[in-house]
Formats: sequence, C-alpha cells, structure tokens
Amino acid sequence: DFMKKKTNEPILEYRKGSKERQDLESALAYYSKNITDVPLRIGDKKITNKLEKKQVIPSDHRSTLARYTHATGEQIQEAIDVALQSRAAWERKPLKERAEILLRAADLAAGKYRMKLNAATMLGQGKNIIQAEIDAACELIDFFRFNAAFALELEHYEPISTKITKNTMQFRGMEGFVAAIAPFNFTAIGGNLPTAPALMGNVSLWKPSDTAVLSNYLIYELLEEAGMSSGILSFLPSDGPVFGDVITSSPHLSAVNFTGSVPTFKTIWRKVAENLDNYVTFPKLIGECGGKNFHFVHPSAHIDAVAAGTARSAWEYSGQKCSACSRVYAPKSIWPKIQAKIEEIHKEIKLGDVRDGSVFLSAVIDDKAFARLKSYIDFAKTGADGAKIVLGGSYDDSTGYFIQPTLITVTNPNSKLLTEEMFGPVVTVYVYEDSKVDEVLASVKDATPYGLTGAVFSQDKEFLYKARDVLRDAVGNMYLNDKSTGSIVGQQPFGGARMSGTNDKAGGPHYGLRWTSPLTIKETS
Ligand code: SER
Repeated sequence: DFMKKKTNEPILEYRKGSKERQDLESALAYYSKNITDVPLRIGDKKITNKLEKKQVIPSDHRSTLARYTHATGEQIQEAIDVALQSRAAWERKPLKERAEILLRAADLAAGKYRMKLNAATMLGQGKNIIQAEIDAACELIDFFRFNAAFALELEHYEPISTKITKNTMQFRGMEGFVAAIAPFNFTAIGGNLPTAPALMGNVSLWKPSDTAVLSNYLIYELLEEAGMSSGILSFLPSDGPVFGDVITSSPHLSAVNFTGSVPTFKTIWRKVAENLDNYVTFPKLIGECGGKNFHFVHPSAHIDAVAAGTARSAWEYSGQKCSACSRVYAPKSIWPKIQAKIEEIHKEIKLGDVRDGSVFLSAVIDDKAFARLKSYIDFAKTGADGAKIVLGGSYDDSTGYFIQPTLITVTNPNSKLLTEEMFGPVVTVYVYEDSKVDEVLASVKDATPYGLTGAVFSQDKEFLYKARDVLRDAVGNMYLNDKSTGSIVGQQPFGGARMSGTNDKAGGPHYGLRWTSPLTIKETS
C-alpha cells in the first residue's frame, strides 16, 4: 500500500488516559526500574562482558538507564572482517528483498517497538513525549519506508537503447564497508545512517552515540527481528578516535555516513587524506554537521508567528536539534511586541523530568553540554557585546543537566553569541534599525561558516522572495514564514550546505544513490 501512495506515519497524541499513553507509561516505568545491558554485536557474537560504561538519564543523572562497553580496536577490525565476508551474498540479493526487510522493520517500529523506542529516547536523550514520537517513531518509520520506495524507483531507471545496443544499469553496492557514525539527538538518524547504505547492498559498521546506546540498540534488535542477518550490520559503541583510526586505516572503507560536529567531520576527512594511498576505492564522506540557524524577521512579519516559531525552534528539545534557531535578526519597530509575546510563552513553558508529561523541554544531554552552555550564559552575564539576558539565564545540574530556556539580546553583530553554535536552549537576538533591513539581510550568510537551516518571516511577499534569493546560498533548508526545525521525510529532504555538511538530503529521493557504485553495461548485437 505504501508503495502506491507514499504517506507519512501519523503522529500519536498520547492524551491522558488513552491506551497509547498507558502503554508508554508502562514502558517508561520499566526502563526507569531496570538497567538494560547493551551488548556489542559482531557477526553472530553478542558480547556482554565488561559492561563498565553507563548511559544515564540526563534529567536525573544519578539514574542509570543502560550499561554498555566500548569495542576495542581489535573488535572493530573483527567487525570489518565479518562485514567483508558477508557483503557479496547480501549485495547480490535482489533489492526488493532487502527493501522488504526495511518495510518489516518499519511495521515493527510502528507497532511492537514503538513504546520501547519512545521511552528509551525520552529517558536517555531527554525528549518529551511528542518530541520522542516525531523522532523515534514517525521519522524512523518514514526513513525505512521512504528509503525502500525511493530505492525501488531508482532501480526502474532504464537508459536509452538503440537497435544495435542494449544499455542497462545496475545499482551495485559499493566495494568494501560503510562506517555509520550516529548522533544522540535523533534516534531516527541513528537508524537511518547504517540502514540506508545496507538497503543499497552495503554492509555497515554502526557506531551509536554513547548517549543514545539504548534507543539505537532497540533499532538493531528490531532490524534483526525483521530479517537483517548478522554480519550486515554490526553494533559498536566505541571511543570516537579509536573507531575513526580503525575504519580510516582499513583499505576497504567505502564510505562514512556521519552526523555530528564539524570538527569531528573534519578529523575524518584528514584521516582519510592521510590514508589515501591505501584505499581500494575513494571513500565517500557524507556528513550532516552543525549550524547557527537563523530567523530573519522583516518589519511586516506576523508577530505571533515569529514569537511562537522562535520559542519552538529555539527551545523545543532544549535547542538540540541541528536545525534549532539560535540567532534572530529582528527590526526595532516590532521587536518589543515580539519580545512581549515570547515572554508570555516563556511563562507557560515547563522545564523538568521527561516523565512529567507536561514538560516542554528537559535537561541537556550531558555534563559537557551543560558546561558549554553555562559558559555562554556566563559570558552574556558580563554584558560583553552589549549582551543582556532577557529571559531565563539560570542553570542547575544538581539532579539533572538543566538549562533554563534563555533569550539574550546583543548589540554587537559579530558577538560570538550570534556566530558560534551553542547547541542548547539559548537563542541570541540582534535588533536592527528598520532602515538597515537590506544591509542586515545581506550580512546573514557570511556571519558564520554554517549553512544548515534558516527562516524568513515577512508578510510582504516581495521582500519574502527577495530574501529567499539573497539567502539562496546561505542554507540547505529554507523556511518561509515557518520555524527552522521539523523537516519531514519525503516532504522536506534535509541537509546543510557550506560547513554544515555535504548536503545529501536524507529523506529525499536521491539519498540512496550515495550508497551505490552503479555499473553501466553496453551490449552490442
Ligand atoms: N530533521 C530535523 C529537523 O528538521 C533536524 O535533524 O528538525
């Protein structure tokens, strides 16, 4: 059915007293009471000894959610060997069979595993119910189904043939193995990074984030239940530099599918460059990195739309979506009204433990994130760059890594608060003179090296389209009169330009091509 009419997985609402809410609460209670052991998975092996590391609950950091260990360099090498042995049989399977596994996985994620995935994402990664549902349920399910459908469409392509030549193309998997390095902030991305290449006939080594091991391992288990045989994917929580060294020094690295920070992605490029003379093929390096996403507000903008959009984009999931708004350019004429409206929203917003069903946002992911955000807030408190904390500004890590939703205004357009990625619930506003609107618009792109998402709010359509054209090269995903977050698979293929990544548009029809090494055959009669 999905193949005929592609539709996104509907979002469950989890109203109080509903069956789904009860089921979710039981899953939350289970994972709150029981510590889950997360093994390493290499071929047929399930390695559970020495689970000395802990994934904690960010909003209650004395509570352990899962125990796991880091794979050693030898174990990562063993996973490469198993992957290479498993590759040929998997790659020769018809695409349809591989796609069916993903479609079964989608059904398991939509049914049997939905509450487990949501509970693990809420507790482990600090999402409230709805933020978990749109990620660990809907987006994950959509990635599996849309990738399968898009891949089958890609395979239908037939080159032109003539009377004497028959031309065909085979969308082969790549020679070697893929390393998938996943982030903490989207469970769905954890599932997409290793499986999109696998769908196209590749074998993947999956390195989950240390702060998302439980949700990512649940996806591994459901893929196994869906029929993904061992050897196709290995599951390898590991130390970043150790993992990076082993994969980049293998001659068989065919691609890296990475989501994380710009500095880490650059490190991977450098390591690949150092090993260039050893490779069997040029590794493809696909990255989805950071941003300093903007909301640009024109004097004609709808005040309520700007206020609600900014509060949501900057503070939902504690500003830890890579697409979160973290700088705003607003005109002096309407800023006081926007600020007043955001203040009203701020009063309504609750920060707390994810198990409290009414929280809007929860703790940031870990102590490092807490320390980083604290230092930006402390910088603002000094008043440097004309900084003024308008909303929030407090923090407390005694029980969880809590940072209040914070709004800062600055008068220096080059302030680090307006140019550096903070990755948390802190947004910086630059209030401009209305007469300088064009000048300020022209400065947005080069204010940072990033180019992930950006939004323009304007009821003046002429300005709106002018801004769209001025900012054309500033982002990978642009929003006109909408907030900068919340892309949906199949609706807004997602990816950043410039230093925000290689812009390969996850959730779009061309994504699968990255994971193939197509063979063109000309046969002459
Ligand atoms: N796709 C997410 C969003 O748009 C970011 O990864 O918010």
